[in-house]
Amino acid sequence: MNILFINGPNLNLLGKREPEIYGNESLDQLIAWVTKQINTKENDIHWFQSNSEGKIIDKLHWALDNKMDGIIINPGAYTHYSIAIRDAISSIKIPTVEVHLSDIENREDFRRISVIKDVCLSQITGLGKDGYLRAASLLLDKN
Ligand code: DQA
Repeated sequence: MNILFINGPNLNLLGKREPEIYGNESLDQLIAWVTKQINTKENDIHWFQSNSEGKIIDKLHWALDNKMDGIIINPGAYTHYSIAIRDAISSIKIPTVEVHLSDIENREDFRRISVIKDVCLSQITGLGKDGYLRAASLLLDKN
């Protein structure tokens, strides 16, 4: 299965950024940990991070052209207002799971709104890096 992980703005700062909320591990450590567990012969795993909305949208289009079977996306703050990312996800029709490290339901009110939630298969929040693995299991079980 071809799986694409997308991390949005500020997630390149994991480990340095508000560690009391997002933990002490860097994005590279998270990537290595998740990849190690699902990188079998049958799975082709791709990772992408960008701080730009347009680059995330271009990568979602790339996923269509490059026949990804599933997408796991943590859109960062774009979650709460990017209709453009929502439209891209709903246009490409690739099963997509939304992941957040923190529990967005129990933080500031504006974080409770996800404009992409209902074009995704599922939303996983508050499990830290385990959320990425849970999302991958969902896609792998579905396949
Ligand atoms: C986040 C939650 C968002 O509200 C925030 O803007 C982020 C990270 C998370 O993983 O918990 O950048 O998506």
